[in-house]
Amino acid sequence: MRNLTIEDRALKGAVAWLCSLLASCGETISTYRKTTDGADGGRAQAVLERHCVECHGADRQESDLDLRSVAAMLSGGQSGPAIVPGRPDESLVLDMIVDELMPPEGDLLSAEEVAAVRLWIASGALESR
Ligand code: HEC
Repeated sequence: MRNLTIEDRALKGAVAWLCSLLASCGETISTYRKTTDGADGGRAQAVLERHCVECHGADRQESDLDLRSVAAMLSGGQSGPAIVPGRPDESLVLDMIVDELMPPEGDLLSAEEVAAVRLWIASGALESR
């Protein structure tokens, strides 16, 4: 490999600086998207993970419902699809949460957690992982 000239070094420094700048721009943009269009699937899926997958996940699938992935939520359980993307009020998952039927034991969801799930479904329920 050839030796770096002073110009190369300066260029490398400039590129590194630009990248760090862009990375922070990217962060800001994604935070902005999350707060403006409510598409924060990561947050919503983390909420389901925390409150629901113990009974609707790997070990147990009450009513044949698995809440670990969007695909599984779309196929749903014994009562049909658990979510209808774009239609939170027609989504069984949200019904159950709002009516305080789920989770049947343990802490109910906070208002912020319910809002995250509602916004996520309303904005299309995209898979976050
Ligand atoms: C402690 C276990 C437990 C937890 C935690 C739990 N569920 Fe359930 N869930 C059940 C049981 C048992 C049933 C079936 C009996 C019934 O309908 O009451 C059920 C049924 C359901 C159904 C109906 C599925 C169908 O197709 O009939 C939905 C939707 C649901 N749960 C959503 C959730 C959501 C969303 C959460 C988290 C907020 C959650 N559950 C947490 C035990 C649990």
